[in-house]
Amino acid sequence: MPDDWLARLPDEPPRGLVMLVGAPDSGKTTLARYLWERFAPLVETAAWLDADIGQSTLGPPTTMTLVLARAAAEPVYPPKGTRRRYFVGNTSPRGHMLSVVVGVVRLARLALRRRAHFVLVDTTGLVAPERGGVALKQAKIELLRPRWVVALQREAELEPILAPWADHPTIRVVRLPVAPSAVPKPPERRRAHRREQFRRYFARAGRLVLPLDRLPVVGQGRIEPGLLVGLQDRDGFTWALGVVEEVTSASGHLVVRTPMRDAAPVRALRLGRLHLTPDFEERFPLRRPTRLEEGGDRGGAGEEGSTGETSGDDK
Ligand SMILES: Nc1ncnc2c1ncn2[C@@H]1O[C@H](COP(=O)(O)OP(=O)(O)O)[C@@H](O)[C@H]1O
Ligand SMILES: [Mg+2]
Repeated sequence: MPDDWLARLPDEPPRGLVMLVGAPDSGKTTLARYLWERFAPLVETAAWLDADIGQSTLGPPTTMTLVLARAAAEPVYPPKGTRRRYFVGNTSPRGHMLSVVVGVVRLARLALRRRAHFVLVDTTGLVAPERGGVALKQAKIELLRPRWVVALQREAELEPILAPWADHPTIRVVRLPVAPSAVPKPPERRRAHRREQFRRYFARAGRLVLPLDRLPVVGQGRIEPGLLVGLQDRDGFTWALGVVEEVTSASGHLVVRTPMRDAAPVRALRLGRLHLTPDFEERFPLRRPTRLEEGGDRGGAGEEGSTGETSGDDK
């Protein structure tokens, strides 16, 4: 904890949303963890919203995870408690801006409705204006109205995001310089982290048969082996992720590999953009979402928006 940080951070548990903003590897998760360990034990209920769909820490990549914790009882990290997930379908927000904004806002609202004293919102490192990062963070701030925006920046790189909120009556912006010890990870390590998160998530997965002929499908594209899908509940949240194993058009059945054991509560199948190999390497099929599908944002795979075989990055 750099010396000059402490004085600028809240000295009691904040009430409401605390949104962390910063470039990749600027220290968002590390700081969120510090805030969690310091403040969660002091309140009855606290929430952690892992909205980083690339370098996620509380669940599989491509997915946002909310954990509502009876914090006073169990002030541990990673937090234990009720989980809700929202499946975005890719490891980068690019091409999926609507889903990212809808997901983060829905999960945050749910946490507040369930009386979380505070919600730590850990976000992706997409902050570059030319990649839509400023627009995305602006949209999140406008909709979430966080009490605190904690910004980790090098020089003034986040000012296009922060400057408009200078005089806001309730949103307080805290600017912190990135810690010198925060070290950028090369793309291979980021990919390895995602692969490990997928591996862990699917460790106890089995085969589940879904009635494709009766199940509404959300999203566009071919349902084919390897495709990552979200098994949606009646509320649009995600029971579980699955990887398509077999599509039998004749019988109208779909077989997915998933940790979920029972097909009965599944209300819709949400299609991801990503394919996973049996050992959880990411692949992207040759497909582009239509412009309408994602509100005119550029569609495509990972950071590069490529249509190539391998993954882009998740920034
Ligand atoms: N305040 C800090 N002191 C020491 N190391 C840090 C600090 N902040 C971040 N790091 C290190 O930098 C790397 C990136 O930090 P992380 O919190 O994962 O960033 P982000 O969530 O913004 O991508 C990690 O290896 C982390 O241990
Ligand atoms: Mg992080």
